Amino acid sequence: MVASARTEPRGSMAMELTIGDPTLMARLERGMDASEERLRALAAEARDPYVAEVAGHLFGRGGKRLRPLLALVGAEFGERRPERRPAAADPSAAGASATGTAAADPSATDAPAAVDATVDAAALAELVHVASLFHDDVMDQGLTRRGVPSVNARWGNTTAVLAGNWLLSKAAQLAAELGPETIRLQSKVTNRLIMGQIRELVGPSDDDDPLSHYFTVVAGKTAALIAMALQLGAVRTGAPDRVVQALAEYGEHLGIAFQISDDILDVTSTSEVSGKEQGKDLAIGVASLPVLLALADERPEAGELRALLTAATTAAEGTGLPKAVALLHRCGALAEARTVLHARLLRARTALNGLPDGPATQVLHALCDFVARRDH
Ligand code: IPE
Ligand code: MG
Ligand code: MG
Repeated sequence: MVASARTEPRGSMAMELTIGDPTLMARLERGMDASEERLRALAAEARDPYVAEVAGHLFGRGGKRLRPLLALVGAEFGERRPERRPAAADPSAAGASATGTAAADPSATDAPAAVDATVDAAALAELVHVASLFHDDVMDQGLTRRGVPSVNARWGNTTAVLAGNWLLSKAAQLAAELGPETIRLQSKVTNRLIMGQIRELVGPSDDDDPLSHYFTVVAGKTAALIAMALQLGAVRTGAPDRVVQALAEYGEHLGIAFQISDDILDVTSTSEVSGKEQGKDLAIGVASLPVLLALADERPEAGELRALLTAATTAAEGTGLPKAVALLHRCGALAEARTVLHARLLRARTALNGLPDGPATQVLHALCDFVARRDH
């Protein structure tokens, strides 16, 4: 389980983490596989083959699957966590698996039904995420996602929006099966995510500080779901409130750090590595953190960068982009964005002080390490 230092994982993020506890690792990997199977089954429920194909387009395409992993890790903090629970004796396990898919390895030491109890939480988090990707690629005119053509590139914007809505409707159905607390979390996160995307689209008002606006946007569009995935898992296994709160706080900071690393990679990472187009934020004028920092204090390069970005967004694709990338390196904005990222990770790690020591908390530290390495 050794992490690769510079490449974006195309398989599950769980495979990329350095985790000391092989039993936990195996349980998480089984949970990830089961949630993937659950997602495929949910897409197939469309019955209409067109909807099923479009809705399921990004399932099984690799991707980091950070959100399902977080839901599974969150579930480790509850009293009813899998390894403590006899599968047959626990009525909550039976309830949870009523809608689930038994995909765990029967020869494994954990009871399969116990693994199932958290699989729906993991699938729910990924459903909301993939819906947001469908919509995001329409907004950003993204043509490649997880190394394949995006839904909008393949079937057009209208289908991408409707299929994203379909996934959100499935997420709501799943939440309804899981109970009122899950509905509360799912509806709140959907609202925050959409508000984040709308705020990004509209941009800061004349009175807004662009950097404060940026942090409001990323808290909504990225951090909300990362925090919610952890909470969802923890609530499913009956974790105490203070633990759920600490996980949420950690998730909010990790999520912001993760988005900053994404912003940096937009500038620095090739599409072979990221599975997305390089320089997309620059090309369409999305205010990513390196750009905001470069423009914030009117450093000498700011005027030149503005002109390059305007050329990149108004002229033929690619015009001005390589120069803008070089300039972001040269003016120190990328290095500054990395500093902001690492400060966020420190806040995430501090939130972990509110959690019991143990392998699950170590996974959350390992995720901070992962995001820290992801800034090249
Ligand atoms: C990420 O938005 C948040 C979502 C709601 C998907 P971005 O536009 O920054 O993400 P990428 O770079 O396309 O993945
Ligand atoms: Mg976007
Ligand atoms: Mg995008």
